[in-house]
Amino acid sequence: MKSFYNAERVSENVWWVGAVDWHVRNFHGYLTERGTTYNAFLIIDEKVTLIDTVKEGFFDEMMERISTVIDPEKIDYIVSNHAEPDHSGALASTIEAVKPEKVFSSVMGAKTLKAYYGIDTQVVPQSISLGQGSLSFVETRMLHWPDSMISFYDRDGVLFSQDAFGQHLAGSKLWADDYDQGIIEHEMSKYYANIINAQSTKVLAVLDSLPALNLPLQVIAPDHGPLFRKDFDKVFSAYRRYAEQKPQAKAVVVYCTMWHATEALARAFADGVRHAGIEVELIDLAVSERSAVMTAVANSGLAAFGAPTMNNQVFPAMADVLTYIKGLKPLNKIGFAFGSCGWSGEGAKQITAELEAMKFDLPIPFVQSKYKPTQEELMKVFEAGETLAEKLKQSL
Ligand code: FEO
Repeated sequence: MKSFYNAERVSENVWWVGAVDWHVRNFHGYLTERGTTYNAFLIIDEKVTLIDTVKEGFFDEMMERISTVIDPEKIDYIVSNHAEPDHSGALASTIEAVKPEKVFSSVMGAKTLKAYYGIDTQVVPQSISLGQGSLSFVETRMLHWPDSMISFYDRDGVLFSQDAFGQHLAGSKLWADDYDQGIIEHEMSKYYANIINAQSTKVLAVLDSLPALNLPLQVIAPDHGPLFRKDFDKVFSAYRRYAEQKPQAKAVVVYCTMWHATEALARAFADGVRHAGIEVELIDLAVSERSAVMTAVANSGLAAFGAPTMNNQVFPAMADVLTYIKGLKPLNKIGFAFGSCGWSGEGAKQITAELEAMKFDLPIPFVQSKYKPTQEELMKVFEAGETLAEKLKQSL
């Protein structure tokens, strides 16, 4: 049956039946500059199975796509790979409409779905037979929530990887190789930095365990963005690179400013870095936001932060960004703090304390100017930029 919303074939027996959220720009504080998709997948086997659902509000779109393949009431099983509401928001409505024989989740998924929606689920065994093929499960706790798991459909070689390998990227194309690869790489890296970075040790453990599973992989199907049908090594090695967090030959200078004093210091520091031959990006928090900052920090070996003092505190925009970054646990960063003040001067001290708490390497003490930076202070931060860029080069 043809419809306004159609399913798209992923493999012989698997269909994409998700939803495209073209205009979402705030995904729990993450600026989704290109929107996103909520991917759900329908497996046509003797036991018809739906893998994940979509965000609340996109139920009709998903059901219409399913209806182009099969009567939704023929769905026997629903598997919740991830209970976060962008994938489970439509679960209760789907269960009501479909009346499946069984709903499966992980142990923590059962607790989470019960707490959110009062839904009872069966905890998955290691694998379940769908008739011609089997679906096997690997728990991936904290990637991205405690309930998270990935599923593999052996008949078609489809890995349903939920948040892992995803990108917040709305579009009309199903396959990642049909997109500009620069966009895919940027969105995958941004997604990792802002959603998964804190769990990098677990990511490395999962990546290490994959070869032993000997999966006859044909498709990687994440819950967000386009899917991968080739270049799997490229996808896995990108995740390994993100997770290892080795120093990158880039620097970022993040600042906020009230009367341009901190801005002048930021520019002088950035020019010092540039003079030493390291690529540098300047981010003014008045015109940027935290997920762009975290992406830049994750992709830089050197990160400097500068802010004024306001009411005996670091300027609030900087406190926000530092709190956010701290939760995502970036590793192996050379850091620098700077700022400006009129009298009490807590700003640069508080930045230093936060960077120390994040275990940034801070070989040069903070620089803080009074009212307006002097030529000497500007030269001091310029030289700090040069020195730290040289130090970064030595660590590469
Ligand atoms: Fe796409 Fe963690 O949810």
